Amino acid sequence: MLNLQNYNTFGLRVYAKNIMHIEDIKQLALLDTKDTIILGKGSDVLFTEDYEGTILVNQIKTLSIEEKNDHFEVKVGGGYILDDFIDLLVSKNIYGLENLSAIPGTVGAAPIQNVGAYGVEIGDFISSIDVYDLETKLIFTLNKKDCKFSYRNSIFKEQKDRRYFITHITFHLNKEFKPKLTYSGLPKDINNAKDLRDFIINIRALKLPDPKFVGNAGSFFKNPFVPLDKIEKIQEEFKDLPIYKQDNGTYKVSAGFLIDKAGCRGITHGKAGTWANQALVIVNRGDAKPFDIVSIAKYVCICVKNKFDIDLYPEVRIYGRSGEILWENL
Ligand code: EPU
Repeated sequence: MLNLQNYNTFGLRVYAKNIMHIEDIKQLALLDTKDTIILGKGSDVLFTEDYEGTILVNQIKTLSIEEKNDHFEVKVGGGYILDDFIDLLVSKNIYGLENLSAIPGTVGAAPIQNVGAYGVEIGDFISSIDVYDLETKLIFTLNKKDCKFSYRNSIFKEQKDRRYFITHITFHLNKEFKPKLTYSGLPKDINNAKDLRDFIINIRALKLPDPKFVGNAGSFFKNPFVPLDKIEKIQEEFKDLPIYKQDNGTYKVSAGFLIDKAGCRGITHGKAGTWANQALVIVNRGDAKPFDIVSIAKYVCICVKNKFDIDLYPEVRIYGRSGEILWENL
C-alpha cells in the first residue's frame, strides 16, 4: 500500500493500493479505471480509511492563452495549481479570478464544488470544460450551462458515480480590470489586480490555516440554507447573525458563526480541533487519525443541531475503503 499523506491536505496517514500520475489522457485510455478516485491536490477530501483502489492524480498542466477582441480565452490543464494560475494571469493583465487567490488545490478540482471566495465563484468565469469519461472512455466538452454551477455544487458533484476526469478548463477572462469588491471587508478603492490579490492573500492568511503547516481542508461544512421563521428565532438571541437572502426566499447562514456560537470555536478533541480564527475549519493538530476528524465533525454538528436546530453538511468529499461515503452513513 502507498502512503497518501502528501495527497490529502489534512495530512492523514492513510494508504491506497496504487497511485498514478496522469499527465496525458492517453494514459487513461490504457487503464482499467474501475476502482479509481480522481484527485488534484487533495485539498477538499477526507479519507476515513485506506483506499483499496487506485488514486489518479491529475497532473495535466498545459496552458494556452488566446487574445480576443474584448476578452481572453485561456485553456488550462486540470492539474495546474489554481493559485499559480491566478498569479500568472495577474502578471499578464488577465483579470477576473483575483478574489480566488490563495485557495489551495488545482484548477481541475475547482469547478467540482464551484469554489468561491470573497464574492466570486469560479463558475462565473468558465466557458467550457473538457472531460474524459472514465466509464465510457469518451472525451467530450461541457459548456457552462451543462456544468450546472450553484453554491458549492455542479454536475460533477451531483453525478452519483463521478466518473468525469477534468482534463482542461476554458476560461473567459477580462481585458479590463473590473474588481469585485462587494464582499464586506474588501476595500472599495483598490484599482489594480496585484493589490487586490495581495489583499485577499493577507485576509485569508489571517483567518485560515495554511495546510503546509496545519493539516486542514478549508471550510469543512457548507453554509446552510435556512427558512425565515428559524432565522427570526436565532436573531432573538443573535442580532448580528450573518445572513444572505436567496432568490427562493431562504437565507444562506454563516456556518462558522453558528459553530462559534454553539461553543465550538478553537476546541480540541483527541488530535483534531476547530481553528480559533475560523470555526468552520477542522484541523489536524498533529498526527490525527481519520477517526479524530470524523468525531470532531460529528460533535460540531450535534452542538449546532442542539443549539439552533440546523443540520450542517460537509463541503469536503469523504472516501472510505471502497470509494465515496455519504456523511449520513458515517
Ligand atoms: N464567523 C464567526 N465565527 C467564526 C467564523 C465566522 O462569527 O468562527 C462570522 C464572521 O465574522 C463573518 C461570517 O461568520 O461575519 C462569515 O465568515 P467568513 O467571511 O469567514 O465566511 P464563511 O461564510 O465562513 C465562506 C467560504 C470560504 C470563503 C469565505 C470568504 C463556505 C463554506 N466557505 O466562508 O471558503 O473563503 O466565505 O468568501 O462557503 C472553503 O470553501 O474552503 C472556504 C474557505
